[in-house]
Amino acid sequence: MSNSVASLISLQDFSATQVYSLFEKAKSFDEKIGHQSTQSIRTAGLLFFEPSTRTRCSFEIAANNLGVRSFLLNGAEGTSLEKGESVEDTILNIAAMEPDILVIRCSDEVDLQSLSQQISMPVINAGWGKRGHPTQALLDCFTLYQEFGQLKDKKVLIVGDVKHSRVATSNFELMTKLGMQVAICGPQEFLPQNSKIPVISNLQEGLQWADAVMALRCQFERHASLQFSKQDYIANYQLNQNSMKNFKGIFMHPGPINHGVEMLLDTRADSRSRVFAQVKSGVLIRMAVVLSLLGIGN
Ligand code: CP
Repeated sequence: MSNSVASLISLQDFSATQVYSLFEKAKSFDEKIGHQSTQSIRTAGLLFFEPSTRTRCSFEIAANNLGVRSFLLNGAEGTSLEKGESVEDTILNIAAMEPDILVIRCSDEVDLQSLSQQISMPVINAGWGKRGHPTQALLDCFTLYQEFGQLKDKKVLIVGDVKHSRVATSNFELMTKLGMQVAICGPQEFLPQNSKIPVISNLQEGLQWADAVMALRCQFERHASLQFSKQDYIANYQLNQNSMKNFKGIFMHPGPINHGVEMLLDTRADSRSRVFAQVKSGVLIRMAVVLSLLGIGN
């Protein structure tokens, strides 16, 4: 992050110091959001090969706030992907137009790591199949940082479809790096095999332990032949007024929410909800990441 050609594909090579430096940058934007002119005009390509609301719009707003011009490729419609061009060729061709930075959401089939090494500008992973979603983890941890002031030893329970979640993958990596305690809870078919993350099988036990709970979206589109009972899930793992009645911490969800499945809570009115705080954090963190990768204000 300290030089202008680094990318953000995974959180692996990030130090805790670099993460906190981003948090401080994001916090400063909270006080004077917007219009941080980067002086010379920069261009960001937002290439979304898969659907998105929060990530795409927050990167657009982040770019606008920084005075970075953005252009958007939003799905295949109207592009040469419809004529059979590959995602890889699409990215390489857009890179040849020399934008200053690329923000990419794509499936697992695309080798984003290898592509980022073939092009000269920084690449930001904006959600890569099941592999990772680093800016989501950064905004989640930033939300917790804003809440608690410090993160070391804070306990986070991640509930639900962990196995199919890129958000969970990136959060395990980042939360562990920042000295937080993280545990998972969910039905057996949603838990990854051979994970080093401790499992708390009973939701009530997990909620008693945690300072914060994060529900994950049940990723029905990734389940294929998985045996899954929605009724059992709701009975045992749904966050609702009953299961959460004694919980004094905060709750989060990366979105989009399947209301009535993983969660049945008022995300606006419940004083424990940080769901919209996460969305706001998304703009601040993405401003900080774009600015850092463009090598401005390092
Ligand atoms: N959390 C998240 O990545 O949401 P979107 O898919 O709407 O961007």
